Amino acid sequence: MKPIEIAEDIYEVGAIDWNVRDFHGYSTKEGSTYNAFLILDDKITLIDTVKKEFADDMLDRISQIIDPKKIDYVISNHTEMDHTGGLPRIMHKVGEDKPLYCSKMGHKNLSSHFPQKWNYQPVENGSELSLGKRTLAFLETRMLHWPDSMFTYAKEDKILFSSDAFGQHYAGPERFDDQIGDAIMPHARKYFANILLLYAPLILKLVNKVTEMGLEFKMVCPDHGIMWRKDPSRIIQAYLEWSQQTPKRKALIIYDTMWHSTEMMAHAIVDTLGQEGVDAKPINLRNSHRSDIITEVLDAGALVIGSPTLNNGLFPTVSDFLTYMKGLKPKNKIAAAFGSYGWSGEAVKLINKELEDMNFEIIDPGLKVEFVPDQASLEACKALGKKIAERLPTFS
Ligand code: FEO
Repeated sequence: MKPIEIAEDIYEVGAIDWNVRDFHGYSTKEGSTYNAFLILDDKITLIDTVKKEFADDMLDRISQIIDPKKIDYVISNHTEMDHTGGLPRIMHKVGEDKPLYCSKMGHKNLSSHFPQKWNYQPVENGSELSLGKRTLAFLETRMLHWPDSMFTYAKEDKILFSSDAFGQHYAGPERFDDQIGDAIMPHARKYFANILLLYAPLILKLVNKVTEMGLEFKMVCPDHGIMWRKDPSRIIQAYLEWSQQTPKRKALIIYDTMWHSTEMMAHAIVDTLGQEGVDAKPINLRNSHRSDIITEVLDAGALVIGSPTLNNGLFPTVSDFLTYMKGLKPKNKIAAAFGSYGWSGEAVKLINKELEDMNFEIIDPGLKVEFVPDQASLEACKALGKKIAERLPTFS
């Protein structure tokens, strides 16, 4: 594959992972990319690398431009191995003694990943590195995505190399926002919901800080997916909006079922919500991936979780989803639980405990139905639907 000149003397030299379908628990139905960047200047500089298995692809792309040995500086914006798995192979070719710039936490974390005694050059937040004609500035972005994360900003070119932030898990023929248009936004939204949602308060602070600094962006180049050159402000504004987690008049009824009883309850709740003008959707956990559900959770105002009681506990898919959601810390939701049981019926209580731990407002003690819901039980489900509808915002 040919390198792409994204600006004069700046190339994207990473790799496309067409076949990855699971990215540590996130379903990547359309693959991903590991973007890396080569800057030709008095000091030739490489920003980031790729997953281990793509290191040779990356070296081949670099070699189409220059001999890798001519690279003077290597920058690691983030330690996670989708960007550093290829680092040992790349450093071996570039030269083990070449300066390796990273944040202080990057130095610590890279040293914990790799035994090599590289020539680490930890940088301070806001420090600069002259390449000759260009200056690079480093901006610490702790927890976006790891404590070691930082951005590198090419000042004269006004290009932000944003590591994980503003990325998407998408592999396609398009590499820029103007080539794919609106079709990229669902991928960017899913990425935000699954990778960055728990850091939403930090994102709000970071975007405000960058705005105060008056940084201009001609391009925003993340390490995953397409690069933003037509309208970088679009993804920045989207991050601001998503970080605020403003609830809509939208409810998700997320459930699993053994013999359709919990499902009957779910449908009764959904039908009532629909009649009350709520954007309501039943989601059977057996048929939907947790990472797609979390994307829907982002702007939902209500989450109604249903589980049968199995062996005195939650149904496994419900446990899985609640654990995943708890880690991502969504905010601004009302919530309730429901479920069918045979003889013990612990599921509703267990769901409520999880919902409490997530700081959702639980608006009902929860509905338990023994075996198969009768008409009275279905009426109770409808009443719960009405109660939720009354509490949701009327705007959408
Ligand atoms: Fe793309 Fe946090 O790694």
